[in-house]
Amino acid sequence: MTRPVFILNGPNLNLLGQREPEIYGHDTLADIENLCRETGKKLNLEVEFRQSNHEGVLVDWIQEAGSGSAAVIINAGALSHTSIAIMDALKAIPVPIIEVHLSNIFAREEFRHHSYISPIATGIICGFGPKGYQLGIEAVYESLKRP
Ligand code: DQA
Repeated sequence: MTRPVFILNGPNLNLLGQREPEIYGHDTLADIENLCRETGKKLNLEVEFRQSNHEGVLVDWIQEAGSGSAAVIINAGALSHTSIAIMDALKAIPVPIIEVHLSNIFAREEFRHHSYISPIATGIICGFGPKGYQLGIEAVYESLKRP
């Protein structure tokens, strides 16, 4: 049995559904979790889905994922644009890292164009809404088939 895919979500993503729906849509984080679980089931991948508003908690989970996961899919929210601590934690783990954003960060304010995660990610998916998480799990599946 392969280790679970950790799907980590950062600040304010608990508010999806109510938060700026014109940008982030109407799906809640629970809807996205269900989509991830369904996708994982189809591909026979276990999914560990978490959200925190706290940088240090995310760092702890990334460290846990280093020995306990097959891959990390991460939407770090605004911390993508600010957190060297999250970048360093991701750099220290030996598993594939997929960066996901619901919105197309490059079509938005300039401060969102830079992500500390992008240079160290295996791949980046942005602008496809919740579907991006599904694409991330499919990408992990493909990379596990062909390491
Ligand atoms: C986001 C984009 C970030 O710029 C923003 O701070 C978020 C959500 C996205 O999923 O589109 O919180 O990561």
